[in-house]
Amino acid sequence: MSPHESRVALVTGASQGIGRATALRLAAAGAHVALAARNLEKLAEVEAEISAAGGSAKTFALDVASEESIKACVKTVLAHFGRVEILVNNAGITRDILALRMKRHDWDDVLTTNLTGAFLLSQACMQSMLKARWGRMINITSVVGETGQAGQANYAASKAGLIGLTKSLARELAGRNITVNAVAPGMIETAMTAVLTDEQKAAMAAQIPMGRAGTDAEIAAAVAFLASEDAAYITGHTLDVNGGMYMG
Ligand SMILES: NC(=O)c1ccc[n+]([C@@H]2O[C@H](COP(=O)([O-])OP(=O)(O)OC[C@H]3O[C@@H](n4cnc5c(N)ncnc54)[C@H](OP(=O)(O)O)[C@@H]3O)[C@@H](O)[C@H]2O)c1
Repeated sequence: MSPHESRVALVTGASQGIGRATALRLAAAGAHVALAARNLEKLAEVEAEISAAGGSAKTFALDVASEESIKACVKTVLAHFGRVEILVNNAGITRDILALRMKRHDWDDVLTTNLTGAFLLSQACMQSMLKARWGRMINITSVVGETGQAGQANYAASKAGLIGLTKSLARELAGRNITVNAVAPGMIETAMTAVLTDEQKAAMAAQIPMGRAGTDAEIAAAVAFLASEDAAYITGHTLDVNGGMYMG
């Protein structure tokens, strides 16, 4: 039996990057994957890619910055698949600028999308996991949530907040056979980091003992492990996947 055979997984931000790679990985391991994000065209491409490989996936519209959208999305996923057993809170944005010049909306947008969205989705999927007496929540945080980063006060606060959310939900849900963990990527080659200048990339690579950026597939592998039966006794943990950039 494949590690995620017949589990239903909801992956936010599945239209590209780490979310897409995670959806592909979970589907390849036998999960039915609900692909959620705003860009329906890109989601449809991921859905087609999974179907072509013999997997099961369906596209759902989701804006994690909107509580109504979150509720509607989870309702539609439950109507289609009947349950959500694995939730991957991956959707995230950056609005980088030094704190002195950071506008209130730069702060609010990042916290609403990266942290409040993850909390509301966890809440919306909890009932289904409680009913199943089995669940896996995996929050994609970041190395900067552990170290801080100049120019990223909003982003680092949202990612540090996700670690606190992970530990608190882990304590609340441990007795119900639901684990809650975080994955903290270092520098990963995706659209999010493509905007960095070569100078910024080289400065970051110099801080990575392995001397290279990571791939979205390497993050997806860590998520798939935490979502599997093999990780049944791991909860409240933040798994660093960063090439040694930070050793907590
Ligand atoms: N790349 C890195 O180096 C790195 C390092 C540490 C942590 N991370 C974290 O990993 C996660 C994925 O990042 P990535 O590198 O794959 O970034 P990405 O390529 O920019 O993808 C971000 C994803 O989030 C989705 N998203 C953004 N706002 C959304 C919203 N309001 N509602 C629904 N979906 C939304 C986007 O989909 P739509 O635009 O279609 O909605 C997209 O699929 C993020 O949480 C990021 O903070 C990345």
